[in-house]
Amino acid sequence: MTRILHRDPKQTLPTAVAGSGPYIIDAEGKRYLDASGGAAVSCLGHSYKPVVEAIKAQLDRLPYAHTGFFTNEPSEALAEHLIDRAPEGLEKVYFLSGGSEANETALKLARQYFHEKGETQRRWFISRRQSYHGNTLGALSIGGNPGRRAVYEPILMPAHHIAPCYAYRERQDTESEEAYGLRVANELEAMLQQLGPDTVIGFVAETVVGATLGAVPAVPGYFKRVREICDQYGILLILDEVMSGMGRTGTLFACDQESIAPDLLTCAKGLGAGYQPIGACLISGKIHDTIVGGSGAFQHGFTYIGHATACAGALAVQQTIERESLLDQVGKRGGELTAALIERFGKHPNIGDIRGRGLFLGLELVEDRASKQPFDPALKLHAHIKHNAMQEGLMCYPGGGTVDGRAGDHVLLAPPYIIEEEQVAEIVDKLGRAIERSLTEVRAT
Ligand SMILES: Cc1ncc(COP(=O)(O)O)c(C=O)c1O
Repeated sequence: MTRILHRDPKQTLPTAVAGSGPYIIDAEGKRYLDASGGAAVSCLGHSYKPVVEAIKAQLDRLPYAHTGFFTNEPSEALAEHLIDRAPEGLEKVYFLSGGSEANETALKLARQYFHEKGETQRRWFISRRQSYHGNTLGALSIGGNPGRRAVYEPILMPAHHIAPCYAYRERQDTESEEAYGLRVANELEAMLQQLGPDTVIGFVAETVVGATLGAVPAVPGYFKRVREICDQYGILLILDEVMSGMGRTGTLFACDQESIAPDLLTCAKGLGAGYQPIGACLISGKIHDTIVGGSGAFQHGFTYIGHATACAGALAVQQTIERESLLDQVGKRGGELTAALIERFGKHPNIGDIRGRGLFLGLELVEDRASKQPFDPALKLHAHIKHNAMQEGLMCYPGGGTVDGRAGDHVLLAPPYIIEEEQVAEIVDKLGRAIERSLTEVRAT
């Protein structure tokens, strides 16, 4: 009997005991092809030796030194590496232990920035429905994932949500992509006017929406208009690239493809690739200088910020991405995987949309393709797909509530950047069988 409170205590999980490239091996010796990197984490697979060696070497030198007393070499080197490649204006880094902490940090930096400027009346964050920013209370408050929020609703801080940029379902037939993007970006302006622009701190969005919608990029022009509105009203733009960042979409930062730069950017999963728990908040020079030139210090901190071993692991991951030209590989394999998904599911009566960027792809399931009618949420089609994929020896990341937080099913794919061509075929093959079996099961209930 387990002593762990598992995510789903009624389910019996296999025990993972080893990793081999993009595969995880369980205690029975069964191999699972990791087509989702867990939750878009394991971008180098599960046995990448140079990263393991870098972590071991750091452990031999110095595992950890509290950042209230010392800085350390790996965190300084990792910060240098990130800022050298970061979108324009981002000049400093704050290292955390994961994505939720990174977003909490961004929210607090944003608030302190305005506090330093004497604009203490600014208190609101605007974010989007159908988003996820983490499970700590601040991050959950700005998130727009109804299922994850429901129990905690009475204790969340108030936040204001506008529409996501979700063209498959919300663009009108008569609208061009650009017109649709402009319309939904302008919801930000309307919300600012409703709240009073000088009461708002910032706008928070996932550059490419991950787990809640299933790899949905914005339409062209959307983020440019968002940036314009933020500048016009003097609020901060906070981009959450916890899932979409660090090469997942084919560029190191997902917003590189939007030709805009945020004031604060968070990343986590692909930063350490799962070899160590780590997240980061990248900070504009303007925010940094206002705080340091004002009260002098950011009123924040966790015991494990700037953890030496975590940073050494993440530095090795980031050096590998560059040394082995893995961003090119993401583009190449991403193209192959997209093509294979279109070939296999492009005309499937129950796959309504195939979308995403790089190796960050999503399939949305529908009961009826023409009307985009989702399956009855009570059927939990997404849960069947996850179960049947695991039976097949495939990890994918299905989710429900895609349409409105209640109905809708999707499958998110985010395989390691190191997958080979044969594994692209294996993903599509196994996923195809898992989806067909799941459809048969839900139809029989
Ligand atoms: C976009 C996004 N932000 C934040 C988080 C929270 O990250 P963590 O689970 O590392 O706290 C996640 C996790 O899935 C995420 O996808």
